[in-house]
Amino acid sequence: MKEIVVRSEKSYFVSFTDEIWKNIYKLTFERKAVIVAPKSILSIIGESLPSSVLVIEVEEGEAQKSISTFGKALEKMAAAKLDRTCLIVGIGGGATTDLTGFLAASYLRGVDWVAIPTSLAGMVDAAIGGKTGLNLEAGKNLIGAFHSPIEVLIDYRFLTTLPDRDLKAGMAEVAKCGFIEDTEILNLIDDDWHENLNELVYRSIAVKAKVVSSDFRETDLREILNYGHTLGHAVERHSKYSLRHGESVALGLRFAAEASYQFSGLSTHERDRHDQVLDALGLNSKYPKVCWPELLEIMRSDKKVRGGRIRLVTLSALGKPTRAENLCDEDLERCFLESIGE
Ligand SMILES: NC(=O)c1ccc[n+]([C@@H]2O[C@H](COP(=O)([O-])OP(=O)(O)OC[C@H]3O[C@@H](n4cnc5c(N)ncnc54)[C@H](O)[C@@H]3O)[C@@H](O)[C@H]2O)c1
Repeated sequence: MKEIVVRSEKSYFVSFTDEIWKNIYKLTFERKAVIVAPKSILSIIGESLPSSVLVIEVEEGEAQKSISTFGKALEKMAAAKLDRTCLIVGIGGGATTDLTGFLAASYLRGVDWVAIPTSLAGMVDAAIGGKTGLNLEAGKNLIGAFHSPIEVLIDYRFLTTLPDRDLKAGMAEVAKCGFIEDTEILNLIDDDWHENLNELVYRSIAVKAKVVSSDFRETDLREILNYGHTLGHAVERHSKYSLRHGESVALGLRFAAEASYQFSGLSTHERDRHDQVLDALGLNSKYPKVCWPELLEIMRSDKKVRGGRIRLVTLSALGKPTRAENLCDEDLERCFLESIGE
């Protein structure tokens, strides 16, 4: 099996497999185990589970990242008298692995868990790095914990059932990994991203694993993963989540490329390379310019903004992240208008 190591509060492997059913059976047979998954995933794996497994079915998508789902799942685990030696396996998109990781962080003050991401965003982003959490009424991801899984299992075949829109949106994070670190990713996208999908997933996981391994608790270095996300998050919220995370990040990446060109020395060619790659993926390129004041307001309220000053991750060249600080409102507006405002 191919593997990538992630070093965090403990080290673990991201393992690539084409025998996922066997892996799940083995994991859940050897220990008292819980499987957390939405119905769509359980309908595929249900038959192949040992009878001793506690199955917790959760809602599809973001709805499962709630205090209510979390509480019900914990009650079921306690009623089944699971002790500290149990294993929780989360199988699904990023929402499922976020919820499962937080269940594992909380139950009996921390038990082992395994992440089996089935969406592209889950594979290249959510399941790697040990961040787990839930949403509150007041906002997304407002509670959570750093609690790494003991293993992440990737089976590329899950991607074949993913709707085209989700696949494309997930590719925004893949492209980001190409812009900030592994520029070969950009060539593989140009060449034929559908054909090269497995290698693109592998390389993106390697980028995230490398970054989080050098900065598990998200101080400075890990911030580079936020490239394109300052405006991306604002657009996502402003669109009331009608745009996918990746579709919003694509807009944020175009904006960050312009800011990199204006403030951090990125060449015009490299700035334009962003548009070329994101266009090749068919990702969003424009957002109404009348929305700028609201977007700026949302950016200011981002939990990552300190002291009200917006600080952007930018690039001085492709694969060379840096920061642009103390940007005034006019600077930011100019970048917005010249990149994506219409
Ligand atoms: N922890 C982190 O570091 C981190 C990083 C990025 C994103 N996230 C979180 O990840 C979530 C987004 O992840 P997502 O985009 O996977 O969304 P998601 O988990 O909501 O999944 C979207 C939909 O796709 C379905 N699905 C999943 N795999 C499928 C497959 N193989 N075939 C068909 N349908 C499938 C899901 O059941 C769901 O209905 C957000 O909650 C976000 O906050 C976390």
